[in-house]
Amino acid sequence: MEKKESEKLYLNKIKEINKHNKLYYSEDSPIISDKEYDELKKEILELESKYSFLNHKDSPSKKVGFKPSKNFKKQKHKVPMLSLSNVFDKEDLINFEKKIKNYLNLKKDQLFEYSVEPKIDGISASLTYKDGVLILGLSRGDGTEGEVITENLKTISDIPKKINFKDFPKNVEIRGEVYIKKNDFEKLKNKFANPRNAASGSLRQKDSSETKKIPLKFIAYTFGYFQNNNFSKQSDFLKSLKKWGFKTSKYNNTITKINDLIKNHNSVEEKRYELEYDVDGLVYKINDLKLQNRLGFVGNAPRWAAAHKFSAASSFSKILNIDIQVGRTGALTPVAKVEPVNIGGVVVSNATLHNEDEINKKDIRIGDVVKIERAGDVIPHVVTVDLSKRNEKNKKFKFPDKCPSCGSKVEKEFNNQTKKFDAVKRCSSEGYTCEKIAIEKIKHFVSKEALNIDGLGKKVVEKLWEKNFIRYPQDIFRLDYDKIKSLDGWGQQSIMNLKYSINSSKKISLNKFIYALGIRHIGQENAKLISKHLQKKQNFLKINNNFDFKTFLNIDGIGEIQISSLKKFFSINENLNVVKELSNYLIIENEANNVSGKLRNYSFMITGKLNGISRAEVKTIIEKNSGKILSSVSKKLNYIIVGDNPTTKKVTQAKALGTKIIDQNELMRLLN
Ligand code: IVH
Repeated sequence: MEKKESEKLYLNKIKEINKHNKLYYSEDSPIISDKEYDELKKEILELESKYSFLNHKDSPSKKVGFKPSKNFKKQKHKVPMLSLSNVFDKEDLINFEKKIKNYLNLKKDQLFEYSVEPKIDGISASLTYKDGVLILGLSRGDGTEGEVITENLKTISDIPKKINFKDFPKNVEIRGEVYIKKNDFEKLKNKFANPRNAASGSLRQKDSSETKKIPLKFIAYTFGYFQNNNFSKQSDFLKSLKKWGFKTSKYNNTITKINDLIKNHNSVEEKRYELEYDVDGLVYKINDLKLQNRLGFVGNAPRWAAAHKFSAASSFSKILNIDIQVGRTGALTPVAKVEPVNIGGVVVSNATLHNEDEINKKDIRIGDVVKIERAGDVIPHVVTVDLSKRNEKNKKFKFPDKCPSCGSKVEKEFNNQTKKFDAVKRCSSEGYTCEKIAIEKIKHFVSKEALNIDGLGKKVVEKLWEKNFIRYPQDIFRLDYDKIKSLDGWGQQSIMNLKYSINSSKKISLNKFIYALGIRHIGQENAKLISKHLQKKQNFLKINNNFDFKTFLNIDGIGEIQISSLKKFFSINENLNVVKELSNYLIIENEANNVSGKLRNYSFMITGKLNGISRAEVKTIIEKNSGKILSSVSKKLNYIIVGDNPTTKKVTQAKALGTKIIDQNELMRLLN
């Protein structure tokens, strides 16, 4: 080959690999398989070894870390890996503590000791040890199910592979954060947006020898599954972790009073940029593990812990334009397109303006110079306008009164609880008639928390829509792969991968199926509540326009808002058809019926104040023992638990129906 020719070929391949790196890393929408990627990489390396003058800064020979595989085996976590709720200031913190005291029914002046730990901004990982040997390493995944990345985790020198201490638990899961030190990240800067992405990308290399090239670190901070846990304090557990050979943070601390928590927060925040790793706040955990156990969880976060975030990084930039995005639930969100600006290490070119009221309140106009804030993974937002830099020509922004996608009229909903109109304007179309809403619904359907279809990233969904291959979620199961193969960037292998991911997504739990439908106000938690209540998939598939949604009021956590949204969803024929067609393609699994508890087959209702224990805790105890909580008296109710000052009407109704009337002590006797 001539010099010129080989150079042209080489540069084309570099361009190609750059395209796929971008699709994979920045857009999370790869369009070629790992195998095809590896072939491309090999071709580049072969050209370089043949023609020594070929050399490009973007060549895989110059870069550490290649394309990680998205096809790791998945495994369920024995104990789910949850998130943390956030607090931002003293008021939030007081509220957080108040909720704990209410739940535990403790006095207002009760003090708690907290284990205070830095919240490292990395990727969490779980390590299972059996008889001191590391046997399994999982990523967080969606919190319920992680990826098996044992070999990659084993390459991290901070992670002990074998522990010989006599007091090291026989069967335990240690959890912590995988991260890259800030100064090590400097060398990887060209490839990743921030240290967190670098850690995540490196950890998920298909070939663990690629992971080994990257200086990943690990700090341990908690346990998951733990057989015979005898620890009484989180801080004691952290001390033992250190003794057993794990790295723990040197900033771990125990603090009791809220004022001292705030003082400590201020002092760590001041020195956050000096720390060797990125930290986005502090984690406060109730130090007493018995109390942690009693407090349990609400939604997907523990009641006993909170993350106290540091203030956000900010910068100034100019608004070039204002786009209106239409979301899955029809909400119109104005987004400022700004001159790209670096905020705390990430280049930002979009910032949300939230809604019309926000634009009017802050008088934000195209052409204005504005202050933009970015905190962690949250979408950057516009805080204020720098009026001193305003050009008189900048006109007030007029918010559209028609949906920019389908032209339907937009409306603000009236909130019956606040007696006010919502700040958000919504497209008034229903079902799948609005193109933008339909695309967003499909993206939601395939997303990680729903069907979790690898290879159907946002960009791929958009492409398939643009080509008219999909219009409804069910179209995913009748794709014409020959047509997709003819699209730019798709090959034999990537088609095979896509088919595989789609097929493996077909088996799905009832709660994930309900969540995947994208019904407004029915998020993961509500979908779980409904699925637990209905238990069988047939019960869900039976729901139509004539269904008596009032029965859902018995579900603790489901209220009028959710019910009216469900009613609306099931009143639209298009939605009923989606549910019906999907049920033909999917294998929907009934909710696992926990019938082992002492209170199985019994339902309870509480009225009046209980002694020494909160109602919330009693409800949790009943549910843990397979009992059901009902919120109204009916023939279905087996027991009414009566405390001080009960609602007389409820007790009278219960008497009339022959429901058993018991007090708190009798409940405890039922539970032994
Ligand atoms: S405890 C349910 N401790 O924060 C308790 N998490 O938002 C959650 N994190 O996924 C885990 N430092 O990746 C805990 N000292 C710390 C932490 C920490 C960072 C991360 C972790 C988790 C996320 C939750």
